[in-house]
Amino acid sequence: MINSLIHPKQGDKANSPWFDEFLVKLLENRDRTGLTEMIREIDALMLTVEPGCSAAYVSELALMTPYHYLVTLESESHWTHVLRIDMNSPDLLVREVRVPGRGDIFRSLNEVYPIGAHKPNSRYMGEIFRVSNLHEVVEQQKAREIRFFNQDQIRKLELPGNMAIVKPSPYTHNIVAYWERPPEDIRVYALGNSIILDDVNRGYLQAKEIQEELGLDKLIRPIDHLATRVYSQNREVAILEYLTLSSYYYWGSYDIANQNSSTNVTKSIHYPEERISPAKVFTAANHPYFVNHLVGLPSPTESFVRNYGPRLHHVALEVADGEINGLANIDYVVQAIRARGKDFLLDVIGSREEGLKQIFSSASEHSSLIVEYVQRFGNFDGFFTKQNVAELTHAAGVEENLRLLQAESEAASPVSA
Ligand SMILES: [Fe+2]
Repeated sequence: MINSLIHPKQGDKANSPWFDEFLVKLLENRDRTGLTEMIREIDALMLTVEPGCSAAYVSELALMTPYHYLVTLESESHWTHVLRIDMNSPDLLVREVRVPGRGDIFRSLNEVYPIGAHKPNSRYMGEIFRVSNLHEVVEQQKAREIRFFNQDQIRKLELPGNMAIVKPSPYTHNIVAYWERPPEDIRVYALGNSIILDDVNRGYLQAKEIQEELGLDKLIRPIDHLATRVYSQNREVAILEYLTLSSYYYWGSYDIANQNSSTNVTKSIHYPEERISPAKVFTAANHPYFVNHLVGLPSPTESFVRNYGPRLHHVALEVADGEINGLANIDYVVQAIRARGKDFLLDVIGSREEGLKQIFSSASEHSSLIVEYVQRFGNFDGFFTKQNVAELTHAAGVEENLRLLQAESEAASPVSA
């Protein structure tokens, strides 16, 4: 039997006795009931963008990531573009709402937050896990009080009909879905008609040509981790809920004290390689916003959650270790992408001596998501350095303050009829 508690805990952030008790109980139960065994890798990630934005976003992803445009699933109110690297890494499903003003639960989750409301359709939705027995996984999860959308709701939401989808988490606002697929079968999503959209394909091909010309296709690797931000009081429950929904284990937590924040990492128990099933990271402030005036520290993580709502903050991609003309690959990648007009929030930070270098892009104007690049040197096996995380967290906070001011000033000047 798999033992989800086999890995020693990393990190310096202390958890409550309640967390330590239920971490053990939940994982022991998950292993014993066979759920850990049945829930496999993350097979796809889903996100939505604003009407009219998906061609530009697919083109942006084609330049900045290893993803290829495969096909578009056309349904009544959505286009869902399937992006793929290969069958060893998760697909990306980019959903465009075709009808401005169309409401659903995902839009509602954006609408009560000042910056989130500004782009109400832009949000990361969640992960689809491959499972070996869909019926059994769903029955067991229902018995653990996990709530699922029913088939009618899935049809109305225009999500693939061949999966069971858990309702958004109260802590992360993300969903998790399960579908059964023998590992040797290709991924096929049961949704709408399969078409190739000319404008999406054109933008994709142009961006890929540039990516290849610059040699970036050989340097940018699949997704390393996904980082979700939650309210400070939800840190422990968000981690334990995710371990309940997945077959991930708790890797550990690091305190980023000077940014009043912590980074909490979970990883797949089945697949040590992140490219197969990315690590899931949860970031939360150490203190809720209303004691900031007493603590006297910046609070970029809690501010993000208050501005956007709990949600995915960034997608990190690995950059192959190595160098080009004396430049570390990550420096070359960033230089090349900057020259194509894409902004980054800061310069590349970290060093070969520290084991890794990292950087954040500006948030995409189409999806609001930040892309992180991370290059690990030699056989560095750490996940990050605390100093890097502090600098990245700070830089993202500075840009977000500007976005809040912009959102508020636009909201304050009514559009004339
Ligand atoms: Fe990260």
